[in-house]
Amino acid sequence: MCGIIGYIGEKNPVDILINGLKSLEYRGYDSAGIALKNNDQIEVIKSIGKIVNLEEKIKNMEVIPSNLGIAHTRWATHGKPSEKNAHPHTIGKITLVHNGIIENAEELREKLKKAGVTFNSETDTEVVAALINKYYEKNPVEAIDKALKEVKGSYALGILFQGDNDLYAVRKDSPLIVGLGKEENFIASDIAAIIDYTNKYILLEEGEIAHITKDKVEVTKDGKVVEKQVHETDLERAAKDKNGYDHYMLKEIMEEPVVLEKTFKPYLEQLDKLPDLTKYEEIHIVACGSAMYAGMIGKTLLEEYANTKVEIDVASEYRYKNIIYDRKTLVILISQSGETADTIAAMRKAKEHNVETLAIVNVKTSTIARESDEKIFIEAGPEIAVATTKAYILQVGIMALLAYKTALEKGLVKEEHKVLEEAEKLPRLIKEVLDRREEYQKIAKEIYTSEDIFFIGRKIDYATSMEGSLKLKEVSYIHSEAYQAGELKHGTISLIEDGMPVFAIVTDETIKDKTVSNIEEVKSRGAKTIIISNETWQNQKLQVVVPKISPYFQPILIVPTLQLIAYETAKLRGCDIDKPKNLAKSVTVE
Ligand code: G6P
Repeated sequence: MCGIIGYIGEKNPVDILINGLKSLEYRGYDSAGIALKNNDQIEVIKSIGKIVNLEEKIKNMEVIPSNLGIAHTRWATHGKPSEKNAHPHTIGKITLVHNGIIENAEELREKLKKAGVTFNSETDTEVVAALINKYYEKNPVEAIDKALKEVKGSYALGILFQGDNDLYAVRKDSPLIVGLGKEENFIASDIAAIIDYTNKYILLEEGEIAHITKDKVEVTKDGKVVEKQVHETDLERAAKDKNGYDHYMLKEIMEEPVVLEKTFKPYLEQLDKLPDLTKYEEIHIVACGSAMYAGMIGKTLLEEYANTKVEIDVASEYRYKNIIYDRKTLVILISQSGETADTIAAMRKAKEHNVETLAIVNVKTSTIARESDEKIFIEAGPEIAVATTKAYILQVGIMALLAYKTALEKGLVKEEHKVLEEAEKLPRLIKEVLDRREEYQKIAKEIYTSEDIFFIGRKIDYATSMEGSLKLKEVSYIHSEAYQAGELKHGTISLIEDGMPVFAIVTDETIKDKTVSNIEEVKSRGAKTIIISNETWQNQKLQVVVPKISPYFQPILIVPTLQLIAYETAKLRGCDIDKPKNLAKSVTVE
C-alpha cells in the first residue's frame, strides 16, 4: 500500500526520490507525487498511473533546485485515484505525505471547515495537514504532537514546514523508518527504498516524532528525547534485481528450492528449535490472503496427523469477533510482511487477553516480528512481486514442520526417519517440478481465454486449491473459485459449461475415491478437467504429476505447479504480473 520516501542532504533529491518510489512500487499504488523544498519555496508535482508518468512530467519541466523532498505512491482509500487526491498535500504552511487511514477525518474536516479551512481533495490526509497547520507557530515537533492528539487511526507521515528547513516524520500503526547516510538522511516505508544509499536505519515506534537534518536525527515522544538503536540491514542490493528473469514473480518462484533448503536446515538438524505446541489445548491460526491459506494447510496437518485442535480465521474477522479464550490457547499469526493491519490487530487482541502469540513472519524488523511473544522467521529474503510465492511455500514448510514435531511429541509418528529424509529431498524435488515449465505453458494455453475457472479438492487438497485459485485470479484476472470437491454440487455445478476448466487437486489417498466421483460429475457436464496429482491418471489428457512424498510436504510440491500455471496464464493474457491492478503487497490499512 502507499509508499513514502523522503530525503534531506547535499544532493538534488529528484533522482533519489523517484528511484525510491520505484522500489516501493511492489506495495501497490495508483498515483504518485513528489514535493521539493528550497527555503520557503515548495514545488509539488503529481501524476496518476505509473511512476514513469511522474518521471516524464518532471523531465519536461524545470523543477526548483533543492536538497530536501518527500515523495509518495498512493493506493486510493478516500477518494478515487486522481491528481487532486494524490499526495503530497499542502494546507497553509504544511506539505505532507501519508500512509494509513484517519478514522475521524470527517468529524475533523467539519470542525476545520467551520474554522475557515478550505480543502482541495477528498482525502483524509488533508485533514492532518490542516490540523498540524492549525497548531504550527514556530515549533514543528510541538505542532505535530498537538495535532496528532486529536487524530484517530493509522498514519506514517513525512512532513515539510514553511519557515523551517528540516524534514519531520511520525508514525502510528503504519511502518516508517529513518535511513542514516553520510551528510544525508532519509525516511522510507521500508529499507528497499533506500538500500542504494545506506544500509543503516532506525525504526520509529508508535507515536515517536523524528526531526531530521542532513547530519542529525532527533527522536522524541511526548516531548522527551528517545535514544534509538541503529539497525543494519542484511538486504543486498542485488536482491532487488530480477536476475535475468522477466518478472519478480518468476524469479521468486525459481528461488523456492534454495530458500526452502536454507530455512529447513536448522530445524532438520534440531527440531527442538521449534516451539512446543503440545503445551496448548487449542491453537488459533490467524492471517490474511495467501498466508491464511498456508495456515489452512497447517490446520489440516495439525488436526490429521498431530491430533491437535485448531481454529482458523481471517484476521479481519478474528479481530472483531467474540473469541472465547477458555482453554490454554496459542495464537499463530502468519504474515510475510509482518505489517498487515488486520493481522497486527488480531495479535494485539490476543495479547490483550493474555494469550500467547507465535509469529511466522518474513520481515524481521516488522511490527508483528517485534510484538509477538515467539517468532519463527521464514527467511524468504525480500519478496517483491505482489503475489506471494516463495514466502507462501516457506510458511507452509514451517507449518508442516510444526505439525510433524507435534505429532512426534505425541508419539503419533510411525516412520520418523522417512519423514525427515523426505524433508531433506524437498529442495531437489521442487527444482524438478519447477524445471517442467513447458507442461505449465501447455496448460496455460488451454485455459488463458476462459472467463471462469474452478478448483476442487478435499481436505489438504482443498487448502492447496484455495491458493491455486487465488494465485490465478490475482495475476491473470480470470474469475476463479475453489470449492471443497463434495460441495460443488450444492449450487456451483450449475455454472459448469462445455469447455470450462476445472482443476482437481488429488493427493490425499484417504479421500481420493470421493474426489474421483466429483471429477466425473463435472466431466459429464462438459468441464475440461486438469488433474494435479502425485500419480499418473489413465485417459486424462491434461494432468501434472509431481513426485509422491510424505503428506506433510505434498502441498510444497503441488503449489509451485499452480504458481507457474498462474504465471504463464497471466503472461499469455499480457497482464502486469508483478503489480496486478488494485492489489497491494503489504496491506497496511484495514
Ligand atoms: C496481500 C498480498 C498477499 C498476502 C496478503 C497477506 O493481500 O497481496 O500476497 O498473502 O496481503 O500479507 P502478509 O504480508 O500478512 O503475509
